[in-house]
Amino acid sequence: MGDQKEVRELTDLPGVGPSTAQKMIEAGFASIEAVAVATPQELSQVTGIPLPTAQKIIQAAREALDIRFKTALELKKERLTIKKITTSSRNLDELLGGGIETRTITELFGEFGSGKTQICHQLSVNVQLPEESGGLNGKAVYIDTEGTFRWERIEQMARGAGLDPDEVMENIYWIRAVNSHHQMAIIDQLFDLLKRENIRLVIVDSVTSHFRAEFPGRENLAMRQQLLNKHLHQLMRLAEIYDVAVVITNQVMARPDVFYGDPTQAVGGHVLYHAPGVRVQLKKSRGNKRIARIVDAPHLPEGETVFVITEWGIRDPE
Ligand code: GTP
Ligand code: MG
Repeated sequence: MGDQKEVRELTDLPGVGPSTAQKMIEAGFASIEAVAVATPQELSQVTGIPLPTAQKIIQAAREALDIRFKTALELKKERLTIKKITTSSRNLDELLGGGIETRTITELFGEFGSGKTQICHQLSVNVQLPEESGGLNGKAVYIDTEGTFRWERIEQMARGAGLDPDEVMENIYWIRAVNSHHQMAIIDQLFDLLKRENIRLVIVDSVTSHFRAEFPGRENLAMRQQLLNKHLHQLMRLAEIYDVAVVITNQVMARPDVFYGDPTQAVGGHVLYHAPGVRVQLKKSRGNKRIARIVDAPHLPEGETVFVITEWGIRDPE
């Protein structure tokens, strides 16, 4: 950036005075990060700023956040700094190449009761562990769209991990997303929380339920997918800019009779079908056993593994 003024506030961006900044904040572009991921069209539309000015503002925000060409070697070095959160199952960790990755979106998809929410609870606890125990010494954000978050379960899992339950619960920020619009607005606001707090994990459980309910059927598919893509894009930027792990869940029916083709092809599709990330398919097995499988991750070997859901949380089978 040379001797240019450092960009910290909206008003540090070129062409943004206090009144423009106010308009941007009201329209949800309250941070440099939010501006950097906006399109010139939307920024111009909601604020009345001319399009070329909006382009300049966004460009400056991106430069401030170091969104630019990188060399392959830089990419390699960045890859090596990706951290991992343990799932408390060695099997599952191995399948994931060491655990749930930061700067990545991991999609857990599977039928009801397959363990998606349980893994999310476990990760909210485990992210708090010290690094040598498979954690990141950080806090978690839990965006709950179905009302299935249980602090009682966190308490149990914290005990299972040998941590102080109250302390663990204090480090999990829970919010109920009441509809898809709210769900997306929460992510916009998160940019601010992540700047202030040492949050290393963001969970959206489930990422799809509101979108499915609000945009049902084939006739709404295009709209639903468009909004979901926008939401995923938000989450991807969040993961990258703040070096956090993002975990999303997606309920799919395991009923091969209701659709054709590959039975692992989720009904409604994997959310991450067109986005980079790790997709983990979960299936029920006998009793408390669950099967996990990685679906087309370029850097992970194919294969499946078994874990169990116990009173104390996710574990390896005996
Ligand atoms: P949907 O959200 O309905 O799509 O399912 P999900 O994939 O999120 O399932 P979830 O993670 O909620 O798994 C539910 C299963 O976890 C239950 O059927 C139980 O087998 C297990 N489980 C949940 N709570 C406990 C608990 O307190 N103790 C034990 N031992 N198992 C539990
Ligand atoms: Mg669930």
